[in-house]
Amino acid sequence: MSVAPTNGALLATEDLVAGYVPEVDILNGVSIRVNEGEIVTVIGPNGAGKSTLVKTIFGLLRPRRGRVLFRGEEISGSRPHDITHRGLSYVPQLDNVFQSLTVEENLEIGSLDPSRTDDQIERMYELFPRLGERRSQTAGTMSGGERQMLAMARALMPDPHVLLLDEPSAGLAPAFVEAIFEKIEDINRAGVTLVMVEQNARRALGMSSRGYVLDLGTNRFEGPGRELLEDPKVVELYLGGTARIDQK
Ligand SMILES: Nc1ncnc2c1ncn2[C@@H]1O[C@H](COP(=O)(O)OP(=O)(O)O)[C@@H](O)[C@H]1O
Ligand SMILES: [Mg+2]
Repeated sequence: MSVAPTNGALLATEDLVAGYVPEVDILNGVSIRVNEGEIVTVIGPNGAGKSTLVKTIFGLLRPRRGRVLFRGEEISGSRPHDITHRGLSYVPQLDNVFQSLTVEENLEIGSLDPSRTDDQIERMYELFPRLGERRSQTAGTMSGGERQMLAMARALMPDPHVLLLDEPSAGLAPAFVEAIFEKIEDINRAGVTLVMVEQNARRALGMSSRGYVLDLGTNRFEGPGRELLEDPKVVELYLGGTARIDQK
C-alpha cells in the first residue's frame, strides 16, 4: 500500500476512470477532494456517474485508471470490507437495510467490534431516538424515512471518519426529507466528514462546505456550496432555473 501525497485531503480521487462493461467508461476522469470535517455534495443529471463514483470510492468497482486516496494511503482496488475497517462507510441509495431483520439486528450487523456493539447501538438510539422506540420492529415494515435513518445508523456503527451517502433523501415524504438533512448536519457536527450525492441539490449545497457538479462522468463545476448555488451557469444547467435569493 503506497503512501501518497494528498495535499492534506482526508479523501481524494485522482482522475478516476471506471465502468461496468468492458471498454465502456462511465467515469472519464473524476477528481474530487474532501477535507476533514467537511460536508461535500456531488450533484449532476441522472446517469452522470454519481453513484458510480461513490461505488468506486468504496471499492465496489475497481478503477481502470486513477486512484482513490484515503488518510494518506491509496485504497483503489481494496475491498469494501477493508475500506470499512479503515474508517470509510457507505450507504447505498437502494436496498440499504435488511428488510426481514429488526432495527437492532440491522445495527448489530453494522458492528465491526463485538465488544463495542452494545455501546454503539445505544449511541445510535441517542442520535436517532425513533430507532430506539422501534428497536424490535422489522425494518421492512418501517417508513422510507425510518429505513433511511436505520441505514445511516448501521453505517455509523463502526464509528467511521467518513460517511458516503448516495441520495439519502430520494423517494422520501417531504416531512422526512428535512429530518434526514438535519440528521446529516448532526452527524457532521459529531465529527464525521460527509460525502453525499443528492438530487435535492439546493438543500444539499446550501449546507455543504463544497460541492461538485458531475456530468457525463467528468467534473464540470466545483466550489463552495453557496457559490455553486449562485453561479448562473450551474443554476441554468443543473438547478433548473433562476438563482433563488432565499437560498443565499
Ligand atoms: N450495474 C451497472 N451495469 C452497467 N451499467 C451501469 C450499472 N450501473 C450504472 N450503469 C450505467 O452507468 C451510468 C451512470 O450511472 P450512475 O452512476 O448510476 O449515475 P447517477 O448516479 O449519476 O444517476 C448510466 O449510464 C448507467 O446506465
Ligand atoms: Mg445514482
